[in-house]
Amino acid sequence: MFETLKKATLDKIFVLMAEYAADPRTGKIDLGVGVYKDPGNNTPIMSAVKKAEQRILDGARTKTYKGVVGNKEFSAAIVDLALANTVEASRIRCVNGAGGTGALMILMHVLGRARPGGRIFISDPTWPNHIPLAENAGLEVHYYPYFDPRSRAVDFDAMIKVIDGLNSNDTILLHGCCHNPTGANLTPAQWDRVVESLRRTGAFPLVDLAYLGFGDGIEADAYGVRKVATSVPECMIAFSASKNFGLYRERAGVAIAIARDSETADVVSSQMQNIIRGTISQTPDHGAEVVRVILEDKDLRAEWEAELTEMRERMKRLRVKLADAIRQRSNSKDFDFIAQHSGMFSLLGLPEAVVTKLKLDDAIYMINDSRINVAGIPEDRVGELADKLLAAIR
Ligand code: LMR
Repeated sequence: MFETLKKATLDKIFVLMAEYAADPRTGKIDLGVGVYKDPGNNTPIMSAVKKAEQRILDGARTKTYKGVVGNKEFSAAIVDLALANTVEASRIRCVNGAGGTGALMILMHVLGRARPGGRIFISDPTWPNHIPLAENAGLEVHYYPYFDPRSRAVDFDAMIKVIDGLNSNDTILLHGCCHNPTGANLTPAQWDRVVESLRRTGAFPLVDLAYLGFGDGIEADAYGVRKVATSVPECMIAFSASKNFGLYRERAGVAIAIARDSETADVVSSQMQNIIRGTISQTPDHGAEVVRVILEDKDLRAEWEAELTEMRERMKRLRVKLADAIRQRSNSKDFDFIAQHSGMFSLLGLPEAVVTKLKLDDAIYMINDSRINVAGIPEDRVGELADKLLAAIR
């Protein structure tokens, strides 16, 4: 039976994570997988999460099913966080997803059912998992240009040209904030222009919101998703609590559908539930419940927001330190973009041979397209990292 199978391609991010774990060299540097790291190179459990978990443990009386839509209060709290009452509740339906990826999986399948073989336009470059997620749902993947490799900024003219040419049968996948992998993000004025185009063409937006709060704060990071949700008749949002709550392995996410009216929203909800039941039946609840407890409690919420701010500020500081160190050593502003980008990632624009050399010779790990996770920059070794980067590209 198995002889008919060919070896499948594994996601390069997790292949690299395993390679890093297996590397015995001391002093290795992990700029690979997108997980937050504290100064001790640990991915910590947030203190608000620990407290919520303790409360859940103390109060738990059952492990019975929640139902196919999952933890409704968690979904409601996330809608509130992401959209802040900007959209009429009767048009919104949610189901929990197994993480942001699970939410994307559900929403992509809804798209695949609504428009079998339909075109979905994804940013070039993008998070590698967007592509199999879309293909597995039977969608036809197309790209819109996003990044200018020379300036390391958004190539907005090229992007908007393609977006302006979409039609009402097309879907566009937008990164809500903290673009992965580039770190280059749309300004509010550029979001406005994108939305103006979507209103004109009728193209359907799906927003991937995996890093809310990691860029410039919750409100600033939510600008784009709120602009989209309040401007077009229908859209979908995939929310992830993996990064901003540090709940990676707990798989907490929400698939949000906004329809033109309540009746249509009910139909979409039935489709989302049908997809969950026919794939994983129910979604995991632990992470969802942790987030619900935090967001519904004034003190825990304030504690979480303070921790989120600390993580964001640390990533910003690391960006500035690395950009400064490279500028001082090279006497050029070529890497200043690292400090101008926001979120967890920056695409350095290094050739793959340089990325491989850094891994083999210096035990510095980054994704082969030269994406770095800025949270992995060791604050006490920034100078050494800058030296090694510059030596590798010379
Ligand atoms: C990443 O891009 O590294 C993270 O989002 C982890 C993942 O699931 O790929």
